[in-house]
Amino acid sequence: MHSRSLLLATILVVLTNPAARAEDKAAASTVSPQALKAKTDYCKTCHGIDGQGFRGSFPMPRLAGQQPEYIANQLQAFIDRRRTNPVMNNVAHALDPAMVKALAGYFQNLNPKPLGGGSKALVPEGKKIYEEGVPSANIPPCASCHGPEAKGADAFPRLAGQLPDYILRKLSNWDKERGQNKDKPDNSAIMEPIAHGLTEAQIKAVAAYVSQLE
Ligand code: HEC
Ligand code: HEC
Repeated sequence: MHSRSLLLATILVVLTNPAARAEDKAAASTVSPQALKAKTDYCKTCHGIDGQGFRGSFPMPRLAGQQPEYIANQLQAFIDRRRTNPVMNNVAHALDPAMVKALAGYFQNLNPKPLGGGSKALVPEGKKIYEEGVPSANIPPCASCHGPEAKGADAFPRLAGQLPDYILRKLSNWDKERGQNKDKPDNSAIMEPIAHGLTEAQIKAVAAYVSQLE
C-alpha cells in the first residue's frame, strides 16, 4: 500500500502543474464551434451518437460523462504511442493540442443511459470488490480512486456506465497497451499492479457492477 500514496503524490504533481494550466487557457480559445462539431460528429460514428459507446466484437468505449483530464491524457497517450490501439493511434495523431483540449471537455455533459450488458448475477460480488478491494491479493478498493459512485475525478477515469466487454479487455491487456514508453512513465503505472492482481472472474464481476451504474 505504501506505493499507492507515492503514486497519488505523483498524480497531484501532474495535476497542479501551472504550465499545463496556462496551455489549457490558450488552447480553449483557438477551436471554432464548427471545427469542434465536425470532429465530434466523427468521434460519434464509433463512440455512439450520445457518446454511450457501442457493443460489438470490438467494443467502443463510452465517453459520455468521462473526466476531461482523463480524456486529454488518453488522447495524448495515443498521439505519443504510450497507449497502443491502431484505430485510435490514427484518429488521435491528426489532433492538435487545442483540439485535444476542446474534445476533452465536450463529452463530460453527455448523459445517456448505460448500455449495460454485464451479468446481473455478478453485480453483488462486483460491488463488494469495488467497495472493499481484494485484501488477500493486496488490491485496494476501486472506490478509493474512482470515487464512491464510480464517476472518477480529474485524472481518475469514470467507470460508471462503461461497457463490461471493454473493461474486461483493457484490464486483461494492460501491460501490452498502456505505458508503452518506459522512458516516459504515466498514470497507467498506477493501475498496472491492480489490473495484474485481478482474476478474470473478479474483473467480470466488477465490470458487471460498474457498467450498470448511471
Ligand atoms: C473508427 C472508430 C473510432 C473513431 C472514429 C474514434 N474512436 Fe476513440 N476509440 C475507438 C476504439 C476502438 C477505442 C478503444 C481503444 C482500446 O481498446 O484501447 C477508442 C478509445 C478512445 C478513448 C479512450 C477511452 C478510455 O476509456 O480510455 C478516447 C478518449 C477516445 N477514443 C476518444 C475519441 C475521440 C475524441 C474521437 C474523435 C476525434 C474518437 N475517439 C474517434 C474507436 C474510434
Ligand atoms: C490507486 C488508485 C486506483 C485504484 C485503487 C484503482 N484504480 Fe483504476 N485507474 C486508476 C488510474 C489513475 C487510471 C487511469 C490510468 C491512465 O491514465 O492511464 C485507472 C484506470 C482504470 C481503468 C481504465 C478505464 C478506461 O476507460 O480505459 C479501469 C477499467 C480501471 N481503472 C478499473 C479499476 C478497478 C476495477 C479497480 C478496483 C479493483 C481500480 N481501477 C482501482 C487508479 C486506480
